[in-house]
Amino acid sequence: MKPRLMFASLALLVAALVAVRVNAAPVAITNTPPAIHNVFRVTPRVFSGSQPEGAAAFAWLASQGIKTIVSVDGARPDVEAARRHGLRYVHLPVGYDGISTNRVAELAKLAGALPGPFYVHCHHGKHRGPAAAAVLCEAAEKWSAAEAEAFIKQAGTSPDYPGLYRSVREFHPPERGALAAVGNSFPEAAATPGLVQSMVAIDTLVERLRACQKAGWRTPPEHPDVSPAHEAVQLWEQFCELGRTKEAKGKPASFGDRLSATANAADELRQCLRGTTSGPDPKSASADAAFSRITDNCAACHKKYRN
Ligand code: HEC
Repeated sequence: MKPRLMFASLALLVAALVAVRVNAAPVAITNTPPAIHNVFRVTPRVFSGSQPEGAAAFAWLASQGIKTIVSVDGARPDVEAARRHGLRYVHLPVGYDGISTNRVAELAKLAGALPGPFYVHCHHGKHRGPAAAAVLCEAAEKWSAAEAEAFIKQAGTSPDYPGLYRSVREFHPPERGALAAVGNSFPEAAATPGLVQSMVAIDTLVERLRACQKAGWRTPPEHPDVSPAHEAVQLWEQFCELGRTKEAKGKPASFGDRLSATANAADELRQCLRGTTSGPDPKSASADAAFSRITDNCAACHKKYRN
């Protein structure tokens, strides 16, 4: 090859590589219909964002070439609306505390088994959805842990969810056996936890928070794994998620109001405890007040609807 030609080919190659890198950076898509938001083109084959609400949102996803929607939210997906736009749903709910090894295997497997591009969503498209999309990219798009973490930061995933960050940072490609165990049928709608199951989870969080309160709203010495801020965030999310379930929506309006009031009190506690693990003295008095408001709401709702 002549030197000039060689130089030209080399320049082309470098330009192509640069283009690939630029293409690979996730971009926010802002010109979406109002029924869908926080959308990112994570890679050409993976998108993330909020829950699509109604026909316009599904039509828009179809217009972007999406073939498979993956919901990692707790609520039952609108499988029928998706189908009307030629889209298939897979429902793999994940918690705010991180993505289990089994879920990671399921995400990796579906990336190979089902047609893309994929749209991965949670409720708001900020925390669980981007984290699951990032894991999908680590499993199927050759992403490094650093790229995956940079993306969830870009998407606004809160550091209040260290479990989600850990899932992305400590990703390991699933072993062949784990992938084989997943099978080839992916649920369009998973069984969502019932009210009782949510209450059991809520109860555990409240017990942990009680131990934190005794320790002056710090990590209790006997439970080094418990972080007051993280427990409060999860409690808040539990009440928000519960409010969105069919079961809760089927109850009288005052039940929903009580759930919102409890969620608001939990939100207040979350704000009081933000950033505290063993560090600076939190606003103890306001945390105490918010915690009392939460437990008063538990008692009031149980009195009316349970006992
Ligand atoms: C808006 C209403 C409401 C609020 C608020 C509420 N609960 Fe409940 N809870 C219920 C109902 C209804 C049941 C009974 C569910 C059933 O048996 O079907 C229940 C059941 C429970 C159970 C029993 C679960 C089991 O194993 O049967 C526990 C524990 C519990 N709640 C804890 C809590 C705690 C702790 C809080 C506050 C942080 C709380 N709940 C707030 C409505 C509520």
